[in-house]
Amino acid sequence: MKKYAEMNKQELEEEVVKLKAQYKKFQEMNLNLNMARGKPCREQLDLSMGLMDALNSEADLSCEDGTDCRNYGVLTGIDEAKELIGAMMENKPENIIIYGNSSLNVMYDTVSRAYTHGIMGNTPWCKLDKVKFLCPVPGYDRHFAITEYFGIEMINVDMTPTGPDMDRVEELVSSDESIKGIWCVPKYSNPQGYSYSDETVRRFARLKPAAKDFRIFWDNAYGIHHLYDNNQDYLIEILEECKKAGNPDMVYKFASTSKITFPGSGIAALATSLNNLDDIKAQLTNQTIGHDKVNQLRHVRFFGNIDGMVAHMRKHADIIRPKFEAVLEILDRDLTPCGIGDWTKPNGGYFISFDAPDGCAKAIVDRAKKAGVTMTNAGATYPYKKDPHDSNIRIAPTYPSLADLRTAMDIFTVCVRLTAAKKMLEEME
Ligand SMILES: Cc1ncc(COP(=O)(O)O)c(C=O)c1O
Repeated sequence: MKKYAEMNKQELEEEVVKLKAQYKKFQEMNLNLNMARGKPCREQLDLSMGLMDALNSEADLSCEDGTDCRNYGVLTGIDEAKELIGAMMENKPENIIIYGNSSLNVMYDTVSRAYTHGIMGNTPWCKLDKVKFLCPVPGYDRHFAITEYFGIEMINVDMTPTGPDMDRVEELVSSDESIKGIWCVPKYSNPQGYSYSDETVRRFARLKPAAKDFRIFWDNAYGIHHLYDNNQDYLIEILEECKKAGNPDMVYKFASTSKITFPGSGIAALATSLNNLDDIKAQLTNQTIGHDKVNQLRHVRFFGNIDGMVAHMRKHADIIRPKFEAVLEILDRDLTPCGIGDWTKPNGGYFISFDAPDGCAKAIVDRAKKAGVTMTNAGATYPYKKDPHDSNIRIAPTYPSLADLRTAMDIFTVCVRLTAAKKMLEEME
């Protein structure tokens, strides 16, 4: 097959006729398939049903230090949960606060606290004329939603396969005091599945921010979410690196067990310097008497230790790896021969990022929807939902069954080819 760029008008017209017929057939199937959100599938959730047996009415709900988990108290989480989540996050237990059921909630609280009360004695952001955040793009829509909600101006910074464009990050952070933070998904990023290189992490740790209260929001949501036993991405640990570089307080690191056990019923955590922890605890004590210790204990008893968690993640990988591979196989089969689109091939995480020819993403997603396939909205991966190239589409392969996913991808690639061919024809005319 010829690449679209090499086709003349007549060949492209023939291609459009053929694709329209294929598209019509799909429409007639009245499908309802969803590749929109990064949710685990049922089989993945079934892996954690043992959580329900880890505690029962006969269980001793005391911690190793004697704390009765059924009662109030323990603001920052039980020791054994700090130990387990610390191992997962590669941080010491003393640097960790265990929170409730969602890390996004912790991120929201962290921005909110800085906004109303300021970070470590600095002016609250609400009293400043302008507060800005750097947003590596494409990125995670819910990060952008938090900063948009607080009226924080978001500045796009391009992502590369080794992390954000660090020349730009360094230039902006060191020259503009109103830049107070950056959203990062350093490992198996949402949506590309990229992991930051050693050089990127080292450069982050060595930033020289103009703002004293600049913080890196290091969302390590996919820290142990590998797809393969062999090809696994590893990162330099950011808290340790910031300490070495003389910037010990510059980072807040977030994680949760959402995509390890049950999303929305897991445990979330923050790791940061002791100075930041003191600052946060002074607020937290007014917010809660303590989070859900029973759930913390349940997670500890279920996994035992980090080895248990790693073994558990292997079972997740066995379920979702074939789904990622099916998406990549179909993209390659249908789009490589016509030279349309670019996509990532992650070693972990929850997403594949697809870049359509400029100006096509919205039309592709609309077309897919009309054939019964729901994708993440075009534009969602950018602040203010504005993709300047109208190109990026996030593919979330985990939730549908393998058979549904293959059908959805067959439809998706027809939509991509049809949209691209029609656009090229329009441009010729
Ligand atoms: C990068 C990233 N951070 C956070 C979350 C949500 O985490 P939680 O369930 O802990 O709030 C997601 C979920 O998709 C995510 O992709």
